[in-house]
Amino acid sequence: MLVTGGAGFIGANFVQHTVRHHPEYEVTVLDVLTYAGDRAALDPVARDITFVHGDICDADLVDRLVGSTDVVVHFAAESHVDNSLNDPFPFVRTNVIGTFTLLEAVRRHGARLHHISTDEVFGELPLDRPDRFTEDTPYHPSSPYSATKAGSDMLVRAWRRSYGVAATISNCANNYGPYQHVEKFLPRQITNVMTGARPQLYGTGVNVREWTHVDDHNAAVHAILARGRIGETYLIGSGVECTNLQLVRLVLELSGQPDDAYDLVPDRSGHDLRYANDTTKIRTELGWRPVHDDIRDGLAATIAWYRDNRDWWLPHKAATELNYRTVKS
Ligand code: NAD
Ligand code: TYD
Repeated sequence: MLVTGGAGFIGANFVQHTVRHHPEYEVTVLDVLTYAGDRAALDPVARDITFVHGDICDADLVDRLVGSTDVVVHFAAESHVDNSLNDPFPFVRTNVIGTFTLLEAVRRHGARLHHISTDEVFGELPLDRPDRFTEDTPYHPSSPYSATKAGSDMLVRAWRRSYGVAATISNCANNYGPYQHVEKFLPRQITNVMTGARPQLYGTGVNVREWTHVDDHNAAVHAILARGRIGETYLIGSGVECTNLQLVRLVLELSGQPDDAYDLVPDRSGHDLRYANDTTKIRTELGWRPVHDDIRDGLAATIAWYRDNRDWWLPHKAATELNYRTVKS
């Protein structure tokens, strides 16, 4: 199995999960180690995998690696909406050209591809209705990030239909758990509190996300690899919806702080109001269901992980906050 982006948040958790629970796979990770990639996230399984430091846009390298692989699981991406608003080019390059490069190698060598995507490709849902995205919802991306992920999904679908590549796609809701970069919402607020700063809420904190534990996401990916129908798309999500304000208050409460110790800051441009996935298809077809459906427990465990793993995130904290200040001003 070739795992692209395996030194990032979800990819590293996926590689650890695969080594522990699916010893039938021999895992190679391909990762260029951007600011978001960290080999230390693979330390617990370093002896069980092969790590290749390289770029998914490097056609020769990708061709060589895919040529000796049965299954490719494609996580590598530029993944942060705020960064995409500031500088979209790396998103076009990695998410679109990188996925194209991988697809061409998969086409040449006949490997099986699972493409990891996001529910952000569908755009936003209203706050005042209980609608959910389904596999048939039309694409309507808002940010450069979601537009390039939508483009990558479209390439996978076209390569399936026109060239018959053996591909599946999953679109998951927001993930949380260990090893998430401190730029993202929950780790940013958790580590702000741990470093004596206040959580930063965009707008008025009314935006809603569906929070899915990274282990549930990765178990769903393995269900698709084992039993998913080639050519199909599967939505993944926990059913746990929270406003950003509710989550910040929960972080503060679980950290022993007053529940009003946060700042409201200017809103993100184009900020999607709500995401939520209808996961009937993956539940009924593949028998997958989330195990981590209690956000309070999941968040408490995640806060404990950040408390116990300061060495992993602290070196990135100051630069991340400086980046936020530079971009926002
Ligand atoms: P991340 O930013 O934490 O990790 C991305 C990884 O990809 C990093 O290790 C980085 O070094 C690597 N990478 C970037 N460009 C590369 C390139 N050109 N060549 C090789 N490697 C490269 O991202 P994440 O949060 O782990 O997301 C992984 C995937 O899951 C992405 O495709 C993302 O769109 C998708 N996704 C994320 C979420 C979420 O909540 N984080 C939800 C749904 C889907
Ligand atoms: P994020 O983790 O960037 O994920 P996405 O935008 O891809 O869903 O943000 C999650 C939500 O939190 C989103 O509504 C934006 C909001 N947010 C804040 O309110 N403050 C912050 O500091 C960040 C990073 C995000």
